[in-house]
Amino acid sequence: MCGIVGAVSQRNIVPILVEGLKRLEYRGYDSCGVAVHQDGGLRRARSTSRVAELQHQAEQDGIAAGTGIAHTRWATHGAPAVHNAHPHFSAGPNAGADAVGRIALVHNGIIENHDELRAELKARGYVFASQTDTEVIAHLIDHHYSGDLLDAVQQALPRLKGAYAVAVFCRDEPHRVVAAREGSPLVLGVGESENFVASDAMALAGVTDQIVYLEEGDVVDLQLGRYWISRLDTTSGRFITVQREVKTVHAHSGAAELGPYRHYMQKEIFEQPVAIANTLDAVTGISPELFGDGAWRVFKEVDKVLILACGTSYYSGSTAKYWLESIAKIPTSVEIASEYRYRDSVPDPKTLVVTISQSGETADTIAALKHARAQGMKHTLTICNVSTSAMVRECELAYITRAGAEIGVASTKAFTTQLVGLFLLTLALAQTRGHLSDEAEARHLKDLRHLPVAVQAVLALEPQVIAWSEEFARKENALFLGRGLHYPIALEGALKLKEISYIHAEAYPAGELKHGPLALVTAEMPVVTVAPNDALLEKLKSNMQEVRARGGQLYVFADGDTAIESEAGLHVIRMPEHYGALSPILHVVPLQLLAYHTACARGTDVDKPRNLAKSVTVE
Ligand code: M6R
Repeated sequence: MCGIVGAVSQRNIVPILVEGLKRLEYRGYDSCGVAVHQDGGLRRARSTSRVAELQHQAEQDGIAAGTGIAHTRWATHGAPAVHNAHPHFSAGPNAGADAVGRIALVHNGIIENHDELRAELKARGYVFASQTDTEVIAHLIDHHYSGDLLDAVQQALPRLKGAYAVAVFCRDEPHRVVAAREGSPLVLGVGESENFVASDAMALAGVTDQIVYLEEGDVVDLQLGRYWISRLDTTSGRFITVQREVKTVHAHSGAAELGPYRHYMQKEIFEQPVAIANTLDAVTGISPELFGDGAWRVFKEVDKVLILACGTSYYSGSTAKYWLESIAKIPTSVEIASEYRYRDSVPDPKTLVVTISQSGETADTIAALKHARAQGMKHTLTICNVSTSAMVRECELAYITRAGAEIGVASTKAFTTQLVGLFLLTLALAQTRGHLSDEAEARHLKDLRHLPVAVQAVLALEPQVIAWSEEFARKENALFLGRGLHYPIALEGALKLKEISYIHAEAYPAGELKHGPLALVTAEMPVVTVAPNDALLEKLKSNMQEVRARGGQLYVFADGDTAIESEAGLHVIRMPEHYGALSPILHVVPLQLLAYHTACARGTDVDKPRNLAKSVTVE
């Protein structure tokens, strides 16, 4: 989703801004731009193409300066078009739409009261050049400006309703950028006599590792070699200076090499054995303390689990519900974060609230977490892939998955490593509650440690999956079936296929087929079936018969020992043997490969599917 980079320096910062945008590209965007303070005025370049094209444009136009801001935009208000791309300039009262004003601004988030502000500012003579909610902020700051940018920003911010991270500079103050956050992430990067802001520490990798994670409501004033952070003191109604810790952060670059792979998604699917091994690296035995100091006390206090997440992370949580209830015997509910945050639910203080997130910055999940806490559920834990993210900072306990940077919008290795983290959580809760014998602990640990090898064996099925993908590429619809623990895996398979191949795909628990979706089954409808050799296998076989009897085409990922054989209308790829409770981690892999190769056969933009963003930092 949108990305911000800004800098105040004595050197030309355009290459740093552009490089920062490139590192944020993976989040998804549909336009980009950069603005600098040059020759006593504001200059900018904007593009609806890639950041590389923006870089070319900026070089051609001779854009170079020591103070500037840059942005990647994921359209919310107004189409992806150059005139809607950030940075936006204020155009003061009575100026024409093309007039260059004195304020330049970039923004992430959504301003909910933009209509009201727009009407007010228009009445004051401000001229709007875009359909964005963002432009009102530039004009509002201009309206309050009387020689001190920080003062103007501090006056404007209380008028905004919604979520934002902004970075602003002014024509009349050449060596100053002011930035602020409320609901969208923003970090300050402290350099040698230069300072930076960015949506993510990763954008500043190689520039500075001295990072301040700004808190909600913080406003930072960046100048050459110094900065101040302030926030509104609700008692006095004035902004007061605050101190924030500077952390040394070794952020990895998002621009990882593709190596022999065609896309990041393919690379990330094949990285899963290593990602799982890394996630298990520090695990020598099961103990609550894997989740942080004090986890034993927290686990003893809680008697239910509430999982909050979105998208793929929601499906890993849905899988974990089966583990938590059957192994740890703890009642578990799983909620879509964007729904939970607005729902009247019945809070129970003895609940462990578990958020799951690859990025750790998903706005809906963070809001759901805060909602749960506001209702008195103080015990919070996150399974997250980014140790420096807002989610980790917000939660009492954490398990950091070690998937490494995930660039492809479609989540793959983050999902399987989340499952590993959630399985460890299940075992730790089971142990605390007296449901994990030493023998069971040893057996589960042995299975976990063997997972990388088991996943590797599944990856070897790729050529067979490619053969199926040619068929799938010609379809417009697909059904996915699973039962029990593998129903969320069917959901995840369907999400992967629709997300990157744009084929309409739905998943059902196989037993639900005859209650409606069977009506969709014809020879044209591929029905992907996840068939582990578990207690529900015979039931699943009956469901498969229901499909065959209606002429449906079954594509079955069957465990080696299921005795399901290929025949007319029944296509089988044989998985390794049944892997017990951890089987979902193996069964999702061929579904990822199927989605990937189908998307390749259809020629879609696999790593950056249309309309989607990697990190969903707005509601
Ligand atoms: O970063 P998060 O795990 O919180 O993201 C949640 C979803 O936006 C994400 O899983 C999304 O569904 C993926 N693109 C699916 O592949």
